[in-house]
Amino acid sequence: MEKKQYHMPILEQLLKYSNKHPVSFHVPGHKNGVVFPEYLKKFFNPLLKIDLTELTGLDDLHAPKGIIREAEQLASEYFHALQTFFLVGGSTVGNLAMILAACSRGDKIIVQRNCHKSVMNGLELAGAQPIFIAPNYDELYQRHTYPSLEILKQAIDEHPEAKAIVLTYPDYFGRASSLRQMIELAHQHQMAVLVDEAHGVHFSLGAPFPESALAQGADIVVQSAHKMAPAMTMASYLHVNSDRIKKERIAHFLQMLQSSSPSYPLLASLDVARYFLAHLTSEQIELILTSVDKLRETLSELAACTVLPVLDQDDPTKITLQTENGISGFALAELLEQEGIYPELATHNQVLLIHGLAPMDVTTNFKKSVKRINEKLKNSQNHDIIDVSNLFPKRIQSLALSYEEMIQLPTKEIRLEEAVGFVAAEAIIPYPPGIPVVLKGEKITHEHVHVVKEFLEQGAKIQHQHIEQGINVFFHDRIF
Ligand SMILES: Cc1ncc(COP(=O)(O)O)c(C=O)c1O
Repeated sequence: MEKKQYHMPILEQLLKYSNKHPVSFHVPGHKNGVVFPEYLKKFFNPLLKIDLTELTGLDDLHAPKGIIREAEQLASEYFHALQTFFLVGGSTVGNLAMILAACSRGDKIIVQRNCHKSVMNGLELAGAQPIFIAPNYDELYQRHTYPSLEILKQAIDEHPEAKAIVLTYPDYFGRASSLRQMIELAHQHQMAVLVDEAHGVHFSLGAPFPESALAQGADIVVQSAHKMAPAMTMASYLHVNSDRIKKERIAHFLQMLQSSSPSYPLLASLDVARYFLAHLTSEQIELILTSVDKLRETLSELAACTVLPVLDQDDPTKITLQTENGISGFALAELLEQEGIYPELATHNQVLLIHGLAPMDVTTNFKKSVKRINEKLKNSQNHDIIDVSNLFPKRIQSLALSYEEMIQLPTKEIRLEEAVGFVAAEAIIPYPPGIPVVLKGEKITHEHVHVVKEFLEQGAKIQHQHIEQGINVFFHDRIF
């Protein structure tokens, strides 16, 4: 690894500044940790000392010329991007900015239907005309994965004027089937490819991790450094890899969307995450993978579920438990939590555990937990496994109303059972994973109502205001 990668320009400068014990007559109000409840200082103080602002020598995220620029350059060299932007609002802000930069009001854009809600929000902010392409349903893994190359081809043939394509890679569960052909196809049609790689910042490590979206030729890639690398929550990267979308447009939208007082601890943690990844050795990676194997082996002792195999091209750090015998993923996750084992996410039929980028101790205590859970599983309540395979029946789909039309229409709340045929005025989003079951502007079907009801019955967390009372639809005659 290049010697330069040893530097962490933002962190180093913050520490240098803080070691001078400066007196603060500026924001933030905690004054380097001095003005703070006494009994909480011991928890917060190390970070408050570097929770600074755009002081002399500390640069400015919105017009970087000093340490932030240097840190972003080191990141772009490490990730092999033309330019990297540091984000303090998660991949959320990166997804918003890349979509706003790629299309203007009314522009068509081809979008994988099972994207995160931040992508959908970006489409609405841009006033774009999304053309959704449905993902395939994987029978063995019992979930939706990727749109096929054929469906992308068809969408491009039907909408050759689309400006860009938005894909998610890998999916939440670490599935990472190659993007290369899709990207080549898009480029043949002068369409930029924007990839939400929120869960794949560590793909920069190379094999045995999947190939990164940047290496496959994506034009813009957004990564949550905080999800899979050791950055603080919200710290993320946006990489620009070509000039299909002007980096000045990205910079413009980022300065609109991001705080004018970005957190320096978050920025410094982006330095740390890049440094960490750059210095992970193959021996360390070997130890991580051995630890993953041990964890998978221990979890395979759990009754009522299978540890799903990881395909060659997938992220090996993701472990998915698929429930059997009618126990729901939500119920299994609850049993794990009762043992102090907190998974990343539960769905109706699966539980996802993410192994970190360091070996973990999963020996005696973990095995005892598995035994106790197995005892409880003997008395667990059975649920129907919800069939979601038909959730995206239209392979290529537009919204029932344009975002422009949606602004004009009044809304009303109605009972879920009465909603079929109405157009949703607000998305219905199981969270996590944050992929809308119903999109804002989508016509509600029997299948939607059925799946949402079942999710609610099984205790899924759903984002939709007042979902317990009903759902928010546009007030107009049903569109059949
Ligand atoms: C696929 C995907 N994209 C984007 C996001 C948003 O990322 P962030 O939490 O960094 O804003 C998430 C969050 O879970 C996600 O799963």
